[in-house]
Amino acid sequence: MQNEKLFDRIDYIRFKNITKKYGSSFAIEDLDLGIEGGELLILIGPSGSGKTTTLRTINRMIEQDSGSVTINEIDTRELDPVRLRRNMGYVIQNIGLFPHMTIAENIGLVPKLGGWDKKKIEDRVRYLLDFVSLPPDMFMDRYPRQLSGGQQQRVGLARAMAMDPPLLLMDEPFGALDPILRKQLQKEFLKIKKEIGKTIVFVTHDIEEALILGDRIAIMNQAKLVQVGTPEELIFNPVNEMVASIVDTDRKFKHMDTLKVKDLMSIFEDRYMIDASLNACDAVDKMTRSDVETVFVFKDGEVLGQIRMMDLMKCKEENIKVEELARPVKSFKPLDSVAFALSDMKKSGEYLSLVMNSSKPVGILVSDEVLLKLI
Ligand SMILES: Nc1ncnc2c1ncn2[C@@H]1O[C@H](COP(=O)(O)OP(=O)(O)OP(=O)(O)O)[C@@H](O)[C@H]1O
Ligand SMILES: [Mg+2]
Repeated sequence: MQNEKLFDRIDYIRFKNITKKYGSSFAIEDLDLGIEGGELLILIGPSGSGKTTTLRTINRMIEQDSGSVTINEIDTRELDPVRLRRNMGYVIQNIGLFPHMTIAENIGLVPKLGGWDKKKIEDRVRYLLDFVSLPPDMFMDRYPRQLSGGQQQRVGLARAMAMDPPLLLMDEPFGALDPILRKQLQKEFLKIKKEIGKTIVFVTHDIEEALILGDRIAIMNQAKLVQVGTPEELIFNPVNEMVASIVDTDRKFKHMDTLKVKDLMSIFEDRYMIDASLNACDAVDKMTRSDVETVFVFKDGEVLGQIRMMDLMKCKEENIKVEELARPVKSFKPLDSVAFALSDMKKSGEYLSLVMNSSKPVGILVSDEVLLKLI
């Protein structure tokens, strides 16, 4: 019973008026926050602001005094806490691997408790070690002390993912690592995040980490949620000085107004271009060969729109031309301001746009990349 899956996926997590007090002081005060399925939400704020407490109300390691946390509209208090915890991965700083167990035993522990047979556990352990870039044959039989800090942290992530939970809770998972290793793991984690499409709630102290990894960032201060938004929203529309100073510690973004699209775009390459008359199947082949996910459809030198591999997969059977499937694309000029371009893209929900110089494609602007380049 405790091992049964509670959720196949997360649609929505909602904190409603959550309050938690220790004595007379608030650890969380009247928190209202929604988390969408599939997003990575960052909790950031000064030490003692209530981040860990907030995270732990999700898996009921901490019980709130009032208010509710619902997952897919089920109040977590109606669920068995052990079963609830087995349905979400939990990763903490200095991950607490069991020292007397091998890496394979550490990762396979929960599956074992779940009654999996030996072969199935081993397959899963191998898969997960591969996934976090640790060759299984080299690492399975080692003990935690025979691994570096960064390697142990990866094992922690693998262990949290053992039961393939739809939700991961991560409390400063890279906090104890040196800066170079931290950057490296962040990069790898970004790749993993794209692949696994899980819902992730991630606590950090590090604003760079937050801007790199977060789909949205929730800023906490003195037990209260101060603002929640995408990195761009926080940078361009901070609600107060505190938010402004957190997201812009080095004041890099103060110069945002002077930056032009051309400064931050990626150079346009021919492989991003596809002819309008091509049929959908040929387009898939061409895109696969040139390793692109999105292309721009051109007809007689004019751009008709953009198309994603996904859009093409759907209409594979029919003999349909890419021209009929192209979606509108935003385009900007090299000398437009980046701040303007980003907020315009945000409004229309586009993460990608084309940069055109007198009807010639010269660049691509990807909203995530822009932030990465600035950091
Ligand atoms: N068991 C406890 N007993 C008393 N006070 C507590 C307890 N746990 C947390 N607190 C207090 O609640 C507040 C919020 O703590 P919490 O651990 O959520 O902060 P945090 O934002 O995660 O901080 P940090 O960045 O240092 O990890 C703090 O003031 C803390 O001292
Ligand atoms: Mg904490």
